[in-house]
Amino acid sequence: MAHQGLLGFGALTLFLLVSLASVPPQAFASFGRRHLAQDPPVDGICTSSVIVHGYKCQELEVTTKDGYILSLQRIPEGRAEASSSGAKKQPVIIQHGVLVDGMTWLLNSPEQDLPLILADNGFDVWIANARGTRYSRRHTSLDPSDPAFWNWSWDEIVTYDLPAVFDYVYSQTGQKINYIGHSLGTLTALASFSEGRLVNQLKSAALLSPIAYLSHMNTALGVIAARSFLGEATTLFGLAEFDPRGLPVAAFVKSLCAYPGVDCYDLLTALTGKNCCLNSSTVDLFLKNEPQPTSTKNLVHLAQTVRYGVLAKFNYERPDYNIMHYGEAFPPPYNLSNIPHDLPLFISYGGQDALSDVRDVDNLLDSLKLHDVDKLSVQFIKDYAHADYIMGVNANDLVYNPIIAFFRRQSDT
Ligand SMILES: *[C@@H]1O[C@H](CO)[C@@H](O)[C@H](O)[C@H]1NC(C)=O
Ligand SMILES: *[C@@H]1O[C@H](CO)[C@@H](O)[C@H](O)[C@H]1NC(C)=O
Ligand SMILES: *[C@@H]1O[C@H](CO)[C@@H](O)[C@H](O)[C@H]1NC(C)=O
Repeated sequence: MAHQGLLGFGALTLFLLVSLASVPPQAFASFGRRHLAQDPPVDGICTSSVIVHGYKCQELEVTTKDGYILSLQRIPEGRAEASSSGAKKQPVIIQHGVLVDGMTWLLNSPEQDLPLILADNGFDVWIANARGTRYSRRHTSLDPSDPAFWNWSWDEIVTYDLPAVFDYVYSQTGQKINYIGHSLGTLTALASFSEGRLVNQLKSAALLSPIAYLSHMNTALGVIAARSFLGEATTLFGLAEFDPRGLPVAAFVKSLCAYPGVDCYDLLTALTGKNCCLNSSTVDLFLKNEPQPTSTKNLVHLAQTVRYGVLAKFNYERPDYNIMHYGEAFPPPYNLSNIPHDLPLFISYGGQDALSDVRDVDNLLDSLKLHDVDKLSVQFIKDYAHADYIMGVNANDLVYNPIIAFFRRQSDT
């Protein structure tokens, strides 16, 4: 039955995206109107998901060089801590993946949520929220209803978002930063490090469900991405919001969840692989809060990564356009061999992950083969899929505690 659901999902989604292809771009861009640009994050992530558990939390914002105002939550200390314990804490930036936001780390119980575990272990925790997601939808001059607001792909996350967040955290703490990324949060980190960005402010990085090569991705989403977000999509919807909770997609998800024999657990399976260790209450909460919008251009760029099998900047799919943007007929590659070999890296990947396929991770590890052996720690979890890394009921034991031990080992040296 689950299998039927998955096939149905793929077919229906393709149908849906083909239908969307006949909607004029202006209509597409206006899906996001219900989120007003002026919305201040008063009922943000701190209030709903951190303070309720007895932790301190500050809502902050960071403005990127290209004008996006990103929300950032800081959890400065653990729950049981007496204020001003004096000791300087190490900062950790946590970066979510595509189509979700920072809330995704906070859906289990406090003993199972990565940011809270880090805070209780003496880290100064900063939760980043990518441009376009619900609390990062403001800009110094553009409104989300303006197509130009959506004129970016993950290249801009590399060039603007990550440096803005790192500069801010570094200026506030004066300390080198530990980074934890999931999914797209690993791709943007690897691309940044390969260009020598962030590395001077970085202490170490943990990459969960790493994606860099996507040639073997085998989910419904992969099929959609590769088939629907290339070609005409580039020109037609290049500058539109992709809001999975917008009317057509939301109606589709709702109807799918009500389908006989399909529940939303299977929907998540269809998107991320056979997660071993999710709590069904947490999955319900996840589906209430996610997915979050991104730009169509970002998905087109990911689809290019799937299709071409190389990691490179956004391809305008026309030599003259590429020359206009890059001075070359092809977009410049991100060369992962250029990641500094002494950068402490922790990589964890799962045997059931449909987005971060084991063969693609092998490819990534191959490009890191010259990395200093004692600076690279690789963990393989046979039963884990993509979402287990953020919501698995045992991720604290299997993944988060080993990350903390890895971070501590780096500070000793
Ligand atoms: C989109 O951004 C690119 C630079 O990345 C710029 O060349 C182009 O003019 C922008 N287009 C619009 C419509 O803002
Ligand atoms: C699943 O979530 C519910 C509701 O938050 C909680 O009571 C239960 O303990 C969780 N189960 C596990 C195995 O974590
Ligand atoms: C990547 O860089 C390495 C050296 O840093 C070089 O040997 C290799 O040819 C480069 N790969 C590509 C695809 O440019």
